[in-house]
Amino acid sequence: MDLGIAGRKAIVCASSRGLGRACAQKLAEAGCQVVVNGRNQDSVESTAAEIRRATGATVIAVAADVASPAGQAALFAACPEPDILVNNNAGPPFRDFRELDREKMIDGVTANMIVAIELVQRAIDPMIAKKFGRIVNITSGSVKAPLAGLDLSSGARAGLTAFLAGIARTVAPHNITINFMLPGAFDTERLQSNLAANAKKKATSVEQQKRERLAVIPAARFGTPEEFGAVCAFLCSLSAGYITGQNILLDGGAFPGAF
Ligand SMILES: NC(=O)c1ccc[n+]([C@@H]2O[C@H](COP(=O)([O-])OP(=O)(O)OC[C@H]3O[C@@H](n4cnc5c(N)ncnc54)[C@H](OP(=O)(O)O)[C@@H]3O)[C@@H](O)[C@H]2O)c1
Repeated sequence: MDLGIAGRKAIVCASSRGLGRACAQKLAEAGCQVVVNGRNQDSVESTAAEIRRATGATVIAVAADVASPAGQAALFAACPEPDILVNNNAGPPFRDFRELDREKMIDGVTANMIVAIELVQRAIDPMIAKKFGRIVNITSGSVKAPLAGLDLSSGARAGLTAFLAGIARTVAPHNITINFMLPGAFDTERLQSNLAANAKKKATSVEQQKRERLAVIPAARFGTPEEFGAVCAFLCSLSAGYITGQNILLDGGAFPGAF
């Protein structure tokens, strides 16, 4: 399928591994020039080299903390006027909400709400001038179905969703879309480390944790990053220009509601 975005420039934040990396790979396969990002220099450079080798696309590695002003400046120095922006960042660790002091709460809101808004602020005016823009925000299934212990993540991401839902309508006349991808359980390093941490906490095995997690997923498996990246690339495609302000849940049927 021709996505119609060959030659477009994309910044994919937090993309040296996992879901972000899969989005970068699929955009590169669609012919985009892609900026990949992560804090660890070696890992972001090796990811860039692998995607370059696999796709022939121009892939620029930016080792930077997306949450810091310097990191954001480095991303936009590498790609000053992106046509496509994929917002992603690490999520906060599991924690009982009673343990969250003010500083931790502000850090969580910064990481999962403010950073994405700051990047949209930087990207939006050149998109308006070009009459093309695709913004995809990786949030979480917990925006729809909050999980105890991930309350800060759910709250900050729901805040981002509401904030940008309004902006999406104001920029829609300029052929700019803003959408949200809500992952359920995808097989990434983060998922594996969560399973291991839960197994340790409950003094059980990782296999047992995995069985329990799969038991509540109708598809009876974890999602693959490749499936996630393909949906991201579609949302960035020419054909998806009439989809905006939407929350796309990718969870193998785990959320039980009809809507
Ligand atoms: N996987 C799932 O099942 C799932 C489910 C729901 C929600 N999510 C959310 O989806 C997002 C991605 O998850 P994932 O599973 O792909 O995670 P992952 O496998 O742990 O990958 C995280 C990526 O983000 C980079 N990163 C982290 N903090 C960064 C920062 N401050 N600046 C720049 N890069 C940063 C990491 O590289 P460095 O460490 O080198 O910086 C790595 O490339 C997270 O917000 C997660 O909470 C995931």
